[in-house]
Amino acid sequence: MNLILLGAPGAGKGTQAEILKEKLAIPTISTGNILREAVKNETPLGLEAKGYMESGKLVPDALVISIIEERLTKDDCKNGFILDGFPRTIPQAEALQEGGVRIDKALEIAVSDDVIIARLSGRRVCSGCGAPYHMISCPPPADNICPKCGAEIITRKDDLPETIKHRLDVYHEQTEPLKGFYGDQGKLAVVNGENGIEETTRLALEALGV
Ligand code: AP5
Repeated sequence: MNLILLGAPGAGKGTQAEILKEKLAIPTISTGNILREAVKNETPLGLEAKGYMESGKLVPDALVISIIEERLTKDDCKNGFILDGFPRTIPQAEALQEGGVRIDKALEIAVSDDVIIARLSGRRVCSGCGAPYHMISCPPPADNICPKCGAEIITRKDDLPETIKHRLDVYHEQTEPLKGFYGDQGKLAVVNGENGIEETTRLALEALGV
């Protein structure tokens, strides 16, 4: 299955991507995680992306399109993949289509803006593997060390209140039109993402028919 996860920042795309990749036995490709890794390692890509990311803006289409084009050629994508955070604009979706990449389903995790703000304010992430935690719904260990990889658990720089608001504006303006793009192709499925992680997974699997 070639799957796209759609949804506002903090809707739970990364959380569900980690769960679904085990259940479907296909890799997750997160442009956010790839870009954060590049920023951490101060690569040319990271240096270019850093300012956009920290201020809650989208990184230019050409940069992320080339990351995805390259990643999708790897062997582990042959049986399918989950795209988390890509496409994020209509030109990115068109680039996938023009590149001949078949998409089976675009699954939107629907969450209201109020819930998003509460979630992102409480979010913590592993600085090593990117695993998401939340101070209330999925608390990190007391020592702030990730049980999955041993790296430190931190607050993302773009999870500051004013940046969260800006990211939501960018989402409504530039990413939400993708619902129409995939809806018109009969590929959009929408699940309620406000009822806890396990319930969202249950609804997602039901919507995917697996
Ligand atoms: P990216 O990393 O993709 O960030 P995002 O879309 O803003 O999404 P988030 O990672 O913030 O949220 P999420 O939906 O994955 O939620 P999560 O599972 O963590 O992108 C970051 C930046 O990179 C962008 O701003 C942009 O600059 C750049 N970028 C990336 N891709 C790009 C692209 N294609 N084009 C251009 N620029 C790009 O969950 C959030 C919190 O809620 C967690 O704490 C989690 O534990 C908790 N939680 C999750 N689900 C539930 C639930 N059901 N109930 C209760 N709590 C829950």
